Amino acid sequence: MPIDARTFSGSSHDYGKVVDVAFGSSYDPAEMAAVEPFFATFDVIGAYDGDRMVGGGAVWHTMLTVPGGEVAASAVTAVGVLPTHRRRGALTAMMRRQLADIHQHGDPVAVLWASEGAIYGRFGYGMATVNALIEAERSRIVFRDDAPPTGSVRFVEEQEARDLLPALFDTVRRTRAGYFARPAEYWNAEIFHDPPQHRRGGGPLLYVVHDTDTTDDGFAIYRISQEWDARGPKSTLQVYEVEGTSPAATGELWRYLFGVDLIGTVRARPQPVDSPLLWMVSEPRRLGMSLGDGMWLRIVDVGPALERRGYAAADELVLELRDEVCDWNAGRWSLEASREGARVSPTDREADVAMDVADLAALYLGGSSFAGLLAAGRGEERTAGAAARLDAVFRTDLAPYCPLIF
Ligand SMILES: CC(C)(COP(=O)(O)OP(=O)(O)OC[C@H]1O[C@@H](n2cnc3c(N)ncnc32)[C@H](O)[C@@H]1OP(=O)(O)O)[C@@H](O)C(=O)NCCC(=O)NCCS
Repeated sequence: MPIDARTFSGSSHDYGKVVDVAFGSSYDPAEMAAVEPFFATFDVIGAYDGDRMVGGGAVWHTMLTVPGGEVAASAVTAVGVLPTHRRRGALTAMMRRQLADIHQHGDPVAVLWASEGAIYGRFGYGMATVNALIEAERSRIVFRDDAPPTGSVRFVEEQEARDLLPALFDTVRRTRAGYFARPAEYWNAEIFHDPPQHRRGGGPLLYVVHDTDTTDDGFAIYRISQEWDARGPKSTLQVYEVEGTSPAATGELWRYLFGVDLIGTVRARPQPVDSPLLWMVSEPRRLGMSLGDGMWLRIVDVGPALERRGYAAADELVLELRDEVCDWNAGRWSLEASREGARVSPTDREADVAMDVADLAALYLGGSSFAGLLAAGRGEERTAGAAARLDAVFRTDLAPYCPLIF
């Protein structure tokens, strides 16, 4: 019997049990109860073998920062298929259904973090941000002595963090493409929910805020896993997030984190590939940066998606798109771009460039160039010079970045 994907109408517990088995973790009702208010905001699909639920996939709705503005986005999460039903098309049925639903809902793009990079390309997702991880031996990190501190760092308790962090984050998130708006349910479920089983042997999350005389202007979230051996302390400081509303605040938060005593190793989760740290320390190589795929993005509706972002130069180009899953995107599109925005319309004119919709997703936030895609054998330049023109139009000052995995 073929596996069918349809709107899920069971309880959060029914859903959690299936997805936890898919991920190989054990289901914890208390954990589900804690994230229930966030789950209640999800649009959920189930995959069914007859009446039996064998998989699930969800989205929640947010605003994604894009160059020059923001766009409504569906954030895909909690996708899994029971091991008993893998490779029988359950995910394929769910992804097709989910993209049709997102199209109908009206979010021009969808975003996700992939457990494995090979899964989502076939559904038109492209790597939209490149993710840099840091793993540094703390004693080898020396900061260049560029400027004296402008403020100070203080600890805040969880309640004060709940009061202060969302507003600071909301200022920062508009400054770089790839950030998404966090509803209160997200803060509660994904950030301030820190039970012992999330800590992997480490301590609780710690919150610090950076301030100048007059105002709070940044925060960091981290935890410490203590370790000692015969030679002394060698604990690990795990950075979850560093958000400054100014370069000085960001810099001083990083100096603080690398200055904590008794720490052997500093690890940081997603960082931008052009992290300011590279230019702040005297030996960038010692940061131990490693690159990988970050957030994946799917252009669900090409016209609105391209019209929501700003462009670095004025030009008019015809893009030919292949899209086997969302066929309403396939064909030729005229992009009339300017610094103020864009007009996008279907056209019969000859194409200047051609590409798969997943490649347009990779260009969309400015995370890669068309020249870079051509070098990898992806995309086609049909009119001489069109690749450079397209890159001049899509160019962004900062690399896109998504700080948290959802
Ligand atoms: C990843 C997962 C959801 C795939 O579900 P599935 O129902 O087996 O997927 P499908 O049968 O629809 O597979 C569709 C295609 O993707 C391929 N594919 C699926 N999962 C893959 C993986 N992890 N790596 C590489 N290819 C994969 C299949 O081989 C198939 O290719 P084909 O069309 O060429 O035959 C499932 O294996 C799972 O639950 N994994 C553990 C949890 C997880 O990683 N979830 C994703 C969270 S982002």
